[in-house]
Amino acid sequence: MGQAQQKRIVLGLTGGIAAYKAAELTRLLVKQGMEVQVAMTEAACHFITPATMQALSGRPVLVNQWDAADNGMAHIDASRAADAIVIAPATADFIAKLAHGLADDLLSTLCLARDCPLLVAPAMNRQMWENAATQRNIRQLVADGVTLLGPASGMQACGEEGMGRMLEPAELAHDVLTFFQPKPLSGVKVLLTAGPTYEAIDAVRGITNRSSGKMGYAIAQAALELGAQVTLVSGPTALARPQGVQVVDVTSAAEMFAAVQQHAADADIFIGVAAVADYRVAQPSEQKIKKSADKLTLELIHNPDILAYVANLPKPPFCVGFAAESENLREHAAQKRRAKKLPLLAANLAQQAIGADENELVLFDDAGEHVLPRADKLTLARALLQHMIKLFQKG
Ligand code: PMT
Repeated sequence: MGQAQQKRIVLGLTGGIAAYKAAELTRLLVKQGMEVQVAMTEAACHFITPATMQALSGRPVLVNQWDAADNGMAHIDASRAADAIVIAPATADFIAKLAHGLADDLLSTLCLARDCPLLVAPAMNRQMWENAATQRNIRQLVADGVTLLGPASGMQACGEEGMGRMLEPAELAHDVLTFFQPKPLSGVKVLLTAGPTYEAIDAVRGITNRSSGKMGYAIAQAALELGAQVTLVSGPTALARPQGVQVVDVTSAAEMFAAVQQHAADADIFIGVAAVADYRVAQPSEQKIKKSADKLTLELIHNPDILAYVANLPKPPFCVGFAAESENLREHAAQKRRAKKLPLLAANLAQQAIGADENELVLFDDAGEHVLPRADKLTLARALLQHMIKLFQKG
């Protein structure tokens, strides 16, 4: 995190209940060695006092555009001195202002007058977030090169549950620090599969597995942080789509295969995290099967092996496989890596990994095995990619 430590941040607070989290965010950024200049809208001052923010940042807080003490040029001076402006929390109203280039208070003027990156952490009720106008404004911000931090899904201050909650201070601090990190995957196209597949038996029943998609989505997020252009071919999951990742939704292994075939030629790296059904029903019934017969026999036929297909392309991308084993992890995983001729394979115990928030990985490459100890899946994803980058850059 060294390079990030001397960075100067303008932290802008707008008027939402999540403003209280900005106190902890300031503390964490200052702890990382960053200079934090807080700027608040009038509305933000109703939720948290400038005195609190001044005490935590160690600097007077900018609020009033018409403060004579700074020659009325605070909006220019503060943005010129900053390496980035971070708006946390960013209300729907403030996001609308940014999208339309309005500048009717100190913070919005400061954003318009900036020549540094702008990072925005939305915080609002789920219906405000889902509103077509907000979504239009968000798309405009992304098109204008603004970096979005979140939002997350979860319990909201209003008692409702859904998308729009501001990220937690530790997540925001991490994202701000990551923003300043080198981007070793900049310009690199990463294609990955995640989640389960669903193989229809009849109109309402099917064969699937307990993969939640968490591991694959975490890798997509980690690759994005490292500057990659990420395409995620996802089986059915209940997870929120990572912002900035191109998601291709599929249901069956055949659909996943078709989507991968479409994108593989263009990919620099392919990571097969999905738990793909090895078999599908030979002739799924279009109608719901009646339970009249005593016995029902299903004929299953092999699905294509997506990872093997990509690894055997004439000019394959750098391929990373996963292996979910229920026993003899090392033996089976090493054998799978050899069979599919993969430079890197990540093995995990299926019963511990599938659906869980935490995992433990053993990586296999030409140099042997490397254990990534138990951690949450995003931490593991970051460690896996750091290992992968060394091999990718060598190759
Ligand atoms: O989604 P989570 O709940 O977070 O769980 C994560 C996980 C356990 C699913 C993940 O960490 C994992 O191990 N994914 C691979 C699961 C799997 O199907 O392993 P496998 O040993 O059967 O397959 C080996 C490799 O071939 C995998 O990279 C798989 O994506 C790929 N494969 C398998 C079959 C097939 N038809 N096509 C494939 O591409």
